[in-house]
Amino acid sequence: MIAERNSAASSIGANKTKRTAKVKVVTTIREMEIVIERWRGNRKKIGFVPTMGAFHEGHLSLIREARKTCDRVVASIFVNPLQFGPQEDQEAYPRDLKRDTRLAAQEKVDVLFVPAAKEMYPPDFTAQVKVGDQYIRTLCGKNRPEHFAGVTTVVTKLLNIIRPHKTFLGQKDYQQVLIIQRMVVDLNVGCEIVVLPTIRENDGLAKSSRNSYLSEEERRAAPAIYQALKLAEGMLQVGERNPKDMLEAVTKRLRTESLMDVEYVAAKNAYTLEDVNILAGRILVAIAVRLGKARLIDNIMVDVPSGS
Ligand code: PAF
Repeated sequence: MIAERNSAASSIGANKTKRTAKVKVVTTIREMEIVIERWRGNRKKIGFVPTMGAFHEGHLSLIREARKTCDRVVASIFVNPLQFGPQEDQEAYPRDLKRDTRLAAQEKVDVLFVPAAKEMYPPDFTAQVKVGDQYIRTLCGKNRPEHFAGVTTVVTKLLNIIRPHKTFLGQKDYQQVLIIQRMVVDLNVGCEIVVLPTIRENDGLAKSSRNSYLSEEERRAAPAIYQALKLAEGMLQVGERNPKDMLEAVTKRLRTESLMDVEYVAAKNAYTLEDVNILAGRILVAIAVRLGKARLIDNIMVDVPSGS
């Protein structure tokens, strides 16, 4: 089950150092394996932060925690084609390797692993790793049947190449985290998954690389997502136990923003992602919306005492 750890977030740029820090950029699997072999031989504890790049404070909080708790830190940047559907934003996905490299150096990442698609998926590649449908065919997987198999396939490859002791993921992608945890347990991957809290803008909007797609008007509407989650939390705290009533109120709040196209609003058992008849136990409240070109997700977890 997802265990959260706290992290302090400082803003990008606030952490500038005078030294001209450099980070080693590795693009081939073979070179990455040689580095890992050496570190493992020297009994170094390896921390890993998998990303698709376009770093924001959420990524940096993961890197900082890895830096604090491990001897060596690898961050990967790979916009994984397997997890994008045909109509999705793979081509448009924000990329800025120069800026990411600078930030990685500032945060003292030891290696930035940036493989090309043909390095990860040569023409004869056929494998797929996926967990059970109850995890991947709901929420963000409902209308995207291949998405989470794409995620678990690439993460398996990355974990096999980097062989980290700890991998750091953000709670914003709660379903992804649960799925990766399931895969790591089911397949006996010897790696601890460390989950850190969602990093937010001052107005509550979860940091995401896709926020860069928002127009000014859309950006003004976007905090309604977190406000709707807080509304759910408040309702649970004052005793709401009927999922239908709560989800209706949350959806209504989102729809006050006319630009927002609600994809789903859901209340689930946070351990299994099953629907609940009564809001009790650990409840995941999750939202996905489309706002212009951006598909944005967010969630909160609420522990609702049973029988209250
Ligand atoms: O969350 C992401 O950035 C990606 O899904 C991940 C985990 C790096 C796999 O491509």
